Amino acid sequence: MKGIILHGGHGTRLRPLTHTGPKQLLPIANKPMSQYALEDLKKAGVTEIAIIIGDVYPEKVKEYYGDGSNFGVKISYVYQDAPKGISHAIRLCKDFVSGDRFIVYLGDNVLRKDLTDYTKKFHTSDSDAMILLCEVDDPQRFGIAELDKDNPGKIKKISEKPKDPPSNLAVIGIYFLTPKIFDVIDKLKPSWRGEYEITEALQLLMEEGNKINYDTVTGWWKDTGTPEDIIHANKLVLDSIGTEHQFLIDKDAKITDGVVVGKGTTITSDSVIAGPAIIGKNCKIESAKIGPYVSIGDNCILKDCNIENSIIMSECTIDSKTYFSSSIIAHGSEITDSAKRQFLLGERSQLKL
Ligand code: G1P
Repeated sequence: MKGIILHGGHGTRLRPLTHTGPKQLLPIANKPMSQYALEDLKKAGVTEIAIIIGDVYPEKVKEYYGDGSNFGVKISYVYQDAPKGISHAIRLCKDFVSGDRFIVYLGDNVLRKDLTDYTKKFHTSDSDAMILLCEVDDPQRFGIAELDKDNPGKIKKISEKPKDPPSNLAVIGIYFLTPKIFDVIDKLKPSWRGEYEITEALQLLMEEGNKINYDTVTGWWKDTGTPEDIIHANKLVLDSIGTEHQFLIDKDAKITDGVVVGKGTTITSDSVIAGPAIIGKNCKIESAKIGPYVSIGDNCILKDCNIENSIIMSECTIDSKTYFSSSIIAHGSEITDSAKRQFLLGERSQLKL
């Protein structure tokens, strides 16, 4: 079985974070979110993976994943010239798939449970496709499945972001497919948003008499379309982070369980680290209160600050008696105290003072 990870799209709702890289490389608990997809595929035994890259810094994706050998998989790259939809991206992989069954994983989806059981289920079934469903509060935002009340286990209809949703069962961004999908994709027309929708391909596959089954997601699943979604995904992942300390620490510093700290990081005795939290390598933490639910990248200097429920990427300096919550601070940012307010902010920055 082969795997496809979608790594394109413009990530407009995540600007300014996506002005300098694709959204799927944004870190959740110090790991690019698409790496969770890659690791899930690998765990399910899928080691031949195509990554679909778009025009938002595709070279950064190639630089990070390379040929896949650092991650124990074999990666090839497929270029999608414009964000024309999931079905369009899948169609570009026909040669790569070459007759096999395959799994498509949207690189901005994060799932708690790994894919092993679902993959086995699909492998041993005679289905032409399998989708995963998860109950959501905001069904207008997703592809939605309506189950057939008269035929338990069967799907009646799949529609994309319905205005009047027939259920709250979202079709999550992980699809188990067979090459039959390519024939229906060829018959699709762009939707109202100008995309070749995967939901329309699945609906057509059903209408043509093919068998689609489903499973429901237990635990959580997150589509990380907005900054709030990313902070929430960070919280969900950190909830099961465990404890691991490889750092130089003053013996009096208060550090709870559920804290992972990288090599070379120093934490002074007047600091408090309240897990769950992850701190990268070579950071300097002085008189700071960090956590809960905080991810700090490598090489950060954090002094005097109080940070909760936030993501601070690598190489940041925060030397300020400020309380931060629900914040995302991108690589190399600097926040210091000053008698007067002074800002140098990128396009579409958000400040809540
Ligand atoms: C896409 C799919 C939608 C699916 C969602 C899951 O939506 O079109 O059917 O429910 O991913 O993340 P988009 O992220 O393009 O709005």
